[in-house]
Amino acid sequence: MLSNSSKPQERIVFPLDVSTQEEALKWVERLNGLVGVFKIGLELFTSCGPGIIEEIKKRTDHKIFLDLKLYDIPNTILRTIRVISNLGVDWITVHTLSGSEALKNAVNSAYNNLKIIAVTIITSLDRADLMELGFNSELVRDTKELVFKLAQIAYKTGCDGIVCSAKEVSKIKEIFPEFITVVPGIRLEESKDDQVRVSTPYEAILAGADYLVIGRPIREAFSPEKVCKTIAGQIKKALEEKK
Ligand code: C5P
Repeated sequence: MLSNSSKPQERIVFPLDVSTQEEALKWVERLNGLVGVFKIGLELFTSCGPGIIEEIKKRTDHKIFLDLKLYDIPNTILRTIRVISNLGVDWITVHTLSGSEALKNAVNSAYNNLKIIAVTIITSLDRADLMELGFNSELVRDTKELVFKLAQIAYKTGCDGIVCSAKEVSKIKEIFPEFITVVPGIRLEESKDDQVRVSTPYEAILAGADYLVIGRPIREAFSPEKVCKTIAGQIKKALEEKK
């Protein structure tokens, strides 16, 4: 967990959403000290393989988040998490829709301080998408309810944390205060449209987020360094107000 003395920028998770080792390492060197966690997703992992982890670790001692959103049968999850425990990453994502048995296997087979972060419903899915997938209309009347139901399963099975939107985080944090909450969908400006589930760093931290996944607002900025500092400023302000 984050201690009270941790620096605001340690809460920023930067997704290395690029496809080459060269580009990924350029970002690691550039943002070292300005963020707290580097996230390796499917694109980079598929293109570079596990070797990228060692290369990142040579350049930074920040946390590494392997975001593979594992979704499989319990036995495969167990065997895969054992392998991942040896890769030297800090967090791995497992999909809650893999079911309780798979989540328990993930938790029980993790070692070397690997934390299991549960994924619930990806934010690109809206109510209509979920109904098309067979979720009943009552359950998806409010996506928050479904996310909360899945969060409860993740908590009961012993997962360490959860990926959720800023709109869901306050309820999750209220009921499971020790759960690590990782929140994507962050934009620097206030969102005018409540339907797009985005929040500012300030709003998300105030709502209870521990970590913020922020990619494009940093990557596409004229000065990514300056944006990281602005984000850290918003985080600091929210943390002070929460005291
Ligand atoms: O800030 P930006 O939208 O560029 O962040 C994109 C990153 O956030 C991607 O790496 C994506 O995998 C991640 N993400 C996530 N969970 C979501 C939505 C996005 O981990 N629900």
